[in-house]
Amino acid sequence: MLPTLRRTAILGVGSAVPERVMTNDDLSKLVDTNDAWIIERTGIRQRHIAEPGEALSDYCLKAAQKALAMAGITPDQLDMIITGTATADYQFPAVSTIVQHKLGTSGQMAMDTTAACSGFLYSLSVADHFIRCSTYDYALVIGAELLSRIVDWEDRSTCVLFGDGAGAVVVGPSEDEERGILSWSLSADGATWPSLYMPGGGCINPASEESVKDRLHFIKMEGSDVFKTAVRTLQERAEVALENAGLKPEDVDLFVPHQANLRIIKAVGKRLGIAEENVFVNVDRYGNTSAASIPIALAEALGEGRIKKGDLLLLDSFGAGATAAATCIRW
Ligand code: ACO
Repeated sequence: MLPTLRRTAILGVGSAVPERVMTNDDLSKLVDTNDAWIIERTGIRQRHIAEPGEALSDYCLKAAQKALAMAGITPDQLDMIITGTATADYQFPAVSTIVQHKLGTSGQMAMDTTAACSGFLYSLSVADHFIRCSTYDYALVIGAELLSRIVDWEDRSTCVLFGDGAGAVVVGPSEDEERGILSWSLSADGATWPSLYMPGGGCINPASEESVKDRLHFIKMEGSDVFKTAVRTLQERAEVALENAGLKPEDVDLFVPHQANLRIIKAVGKRLGIAEENVFVNVDRYGNTSAASIPIALAEALGEGRIKKGDLLLLDSFGAGATAAATCIRW
């Protein structure tokens, strides 16, 4: 029998980042860079870096526990665990299965999505559809990365940009039909893949002495290509998500874009016509945490009292493969 459609709401939010902070000055001791260049080109002042031996699943667990506590949901009540990440504990199984085990639960569906920086919103869109169709009631959706493990610490054009962390939300059926996830706009453009990827570790260049020597197991990026595509695509996704919800940029109370670069965030906010005070920014303190950036930002915005009941949130992400996603959420 076809299920009845209902609306999905975010019931709990949590985040966790490593204690260790790496400043721009710390980085200038590793590569030929400086605080002024990094701040001017990216807006980043510091990032958090995990200790050796720590796993992505450790941070997923901490973020998940906070989100579950806020939602008042126990791990056993979850029907689904889905994580957006490019830096799971292992190539397989999915880190979501390891998080499931660490949460002390079992049985529910658990999988990861590979959509780079859009991994969290892609995952949220999947969970939303399962819940809206009444297939499931509660889902744990995580965005998490330990990018420090795949950053080339000898490449100044990339190592200054990224940071580690995790964010999670618990979603479930909304009690109020007016509130929750209102719309989606998702896309990708595979033609762009060579501008941001990791060459080693897949079936084309499996790990070998040579692949390590050639530094293939690190992020490779054409920064200016990514920059231009990111600005255009983030604008497009946000506009379509708003249109799909029958809303306008001036209706947005808080715009939470992927935190990659302050210049990208400002350019997109300006193109959309959203006032600067309604744009959430924390890239200065975390760098680009890829799939983790939006749930970490959500957790911070809530903690700072910047999200009130009834507010309209616009979340917007862009990542490798030009994966992009935007959603309008009535809080
Ligand atoms: N410190 C000092 N100088 C540097 C550094 C550094 N860390 N990195 C590069 N430079 C130098 C370059 O060598 C170059 O020198 P040259 O002119 O002598 O050749 C100069 O600075 C300018 O380099 P550009 O690459 O042209 O600098 P740009 O203004 O484009 O900024 C940046 C580079 C910050 C990477 C920018 O292109 C960017 O942010 N791109 C988007 C990257 C991004 O956000 N990626 C992730 C989004 S998708 C996702 O999140 C997965």
